Amino acid sequence: MAGAPQPQMNMVPGCPRHVAIIMDGNGRWATQRGRPRLFGHHAGARRVREIVESCPEIGVDYLTIFAFSTENWKRTQVEVAGLMNLFRRYIIKETKVLRESGVRVRFIGDRVRLDDKLIHLMNELEAATEHNNQVHLTIALNYGGRDEVARATKRLAADVAAGRLRPEDVDEETLPRYLDTHVLPDPDLVIRTSGEARISNFLLWQSAYSEYEFIDTLWPDFTREEFTRLCTAYGGRERRFGGVLR
Ligand code: FPP
Repeated sequence: MAGAPQPQMNMVPGCPRHVAIIMDGNGRWATQRGRPRLFGHHAGARRVREIVESCPEIGVDYLTIFAFSTENWKRTQVEVAGLMNLFRRYIIKETKVLRESGVRVRFIGDRVRLDDKLIHLMNELEAATEHNNQVHLTIALNYGGRDEVARATKRLAADVAAGRLRPEDVDEETLPRYLDTHVLPDPDLVIRTSGEARISNFLLWQSAYSEYEFIDTLWPDFTREEFTRLCTAYGGRERRFGGVLR
């Protein structure tokens, strides 16, 4: 039955339940090979498939990937159009396998700037996989953490103005209910590839207590073996959430 949990093999002890990844380095990977940047993005898309497939083997229930940021519109028109085309092709090509392998897909980010055809495909993929629960794949597309908090605050303010929410009732539990990620647990582990040690506006609220791994590997070279190694290393970490070691 699609979506029914399958017996797991090779589960990593202490595996992070939710891993979020900043997939960086596609451009440099292509340049190193004397190829256009889009060549790197296509190679990156193939890695997405491999990493999603590996989640149930490792024991990762939630995978969130940063595919396109609110700042990425500053790239050349050729690169932006190429990426949008790649996202459309990815959805068309992967829908069947994602549905049949029990992956539930969600998109986060602001859809307003995306073209109608892409929005339609995103809605269709979400609907086609909505009964799955083997792995929860969230794709951040036209996503920015500050933009997300601003949009959430706008909705929260509207509820206050309409009398549905009292300002004195707003606390740390309130805002997350308005975020794009409201149905997801916070990420346990955030990985960034390609040697940059910054979070670039990704899951700002949600990653307050996440563990981080900044690795030199360029995204198109990131393998399931390296993913497994990072999840295994996470299993050995002591998370304190501001408390003290016991
Ligand atoms: C960052 O590398 C990568 C992106 C802005 C795009 C991420 C997209 C993919 C991995 C393609 C496939 C995704 C899906 C969901 C199908 P960069 O271009 O900034 O690399 P650079 O820092 O080396 O220039």
